[in-house]
Amino acid sequence: MFKKEVYIERRKKLKEKLKGGLILFLGNTESACNYTDNAYHFRQDSTFTYFFGLDIPGLAGLIDLDSGKEYLFGTDFSIDDIIWMGPQPKIVELAAEIGVKNTEVLTQLGNYLRNAKNQNRNIHVLPFYRGDSIIQFSNFLEISHAEAEDYESLELIKAVVDLRSIKDQHEVEELIKASAIGYKMHTTAMKMAKPGIYEQEIAGTVEGIALAHGGMLSFPIILSQNGETLHNHYHGNMLQEGKLMLTDTGAETSMHYASDHTRTVPVGGKFSQKQKDIYNIVLEANNHAISLIKPDVPYRDIHLESAKIIAQGLTDLGIMKGNVEDAVRDGAHAMFMPHGLGHMMGMDVHDMEGLGEDHVGYDNEFKRATQFGLRGLRLGRRLQEGFVITTEPGIYFIPDLIKKWKTENINAKYINFDKVLDEYVDFGGIRLEDDILVTETGAQIIGKRIPITVEEVEETMKS
Ligand code: GLY
Ligand code: MN
Repeated sequence: MFKKEVYIERRKKLKEKLKGGLILFLGNTESACNYTDNAYHFRQDSTFTYFFGLDIPGLAGLIDLDSGKEYLFGTDFSIDDIIWMGPQPKIVELAAEIGVKNTEVLTQLGNYLRNAKNQNRNIHVLPFYRGDSIIQFSNFLEISHAEAEDYESLELIKAVVDLRSIKDQHEVEELIKASAIGYKMHTTAMKMAKPGIYEQEIAGTVEGIALAHGGMLSFPIILSQNGETLHNHYHGNMLQEGKLMLTDTGAETSMHYASDHTRTVPVGGKFSQKQKDIYNIVLEANNHAISLIKPDVPYRDIHLESAKIIAQGLTDLGIMKGNVEDAVRDGAHAMFMPHGLGHMMGMDVHDMEGLGEDHVGYDNEFKRATQFGLRGLRLGRRLQEGFVITTEPGIYFIPDLIKKWKTENINAKYINFDKVLDEYVDFGGIRLEDDILVTETGAQIIGKRIPITVEEVEETMKS
């Protein structure tokens, strides 16, 4: 945990942003996997952690905006709990660690909320993303599950997004730690990528590195020799010479700050010329994107500039054709890169996505596009100093998508479908992803950059 002053200051800033009523932050509860006592690994809610710091199930934080009082709700361990899980500080002791003066047993929370409701006071909550939280909140207020959503507060969402979007020095230090774990995970995966090994052997080893550093994965590992499937969680294939292995993975530190990197490497350690040609386009798209990052630049523009590098590179190889600017305007490159350039990152790997992607990545000036490809861009608005974002361009040859576009004549004036189908249909996919801090004047890669050039990757795989 950070020092208690960090949490006191964060709550103070939040209070200044909202007008009145109560703010409720429900911490997460244990979540059953296959029976109640066999729970998934506990993961605290990120916004609860941001303002109340405590990484323990069954807590709630309440802020009364009118009186200024802050409360921690929880339940002291009984002797049965202590026998099962060991001793635990009392709720008053936990509250002291985060500078909260008032405590109550969790069962009293319903009284507080119902009293506020009866007095027609606003109760602000963030969007619910777990069924358990909806049930808990509905029970406290004695309302239906559908009615619970009426309490989701746009005013609170905007205030939280404003605060969490800007990472301070302490947070950046945690992100650097997460990146260092990611470095080990990726270089280990590279060294293991030999023909004959199963993807799951590498995926399991990589996940073990995250766990061995006291945290966990920041999202389920994507590791596949079929990297053209963007979120491929199937790890049952044996690696084959000539294939590319795409690994998109990251760690969370014990304080839940994330890393999220992607590297794509040739099984066996040597890129073919054909692989190098595509790889270097993706690398240039990534480097170019990073070079454009600075405060006040709309991330949508950087996405489109990066897309132009991809379209130009594919045109130079005879895979695309025609005018590159027009091709990108019409979204033709999106057959090869159907996703966005990147997203915010912090305590959630897609930071604050639980609050609503458009509240995080878009604003009054930038609305999400409807065009295929561009609509997948999670962050479109202007960058600010202190944002932490990813850059993750890719080129994928997705057989079903290629066949669909050819059959339906989509963007046919920009794509040499016959060449794609004859020469690249079984190529796979390449994505390269880095984590970036927006600085006062530009961009800084978080931590030491994981080997990324063809030479660096081949050298790492040799060792
Ligand atoms: N790296 C996983 C994702 O951004 O979806
Ligand atoms: Mn990512």
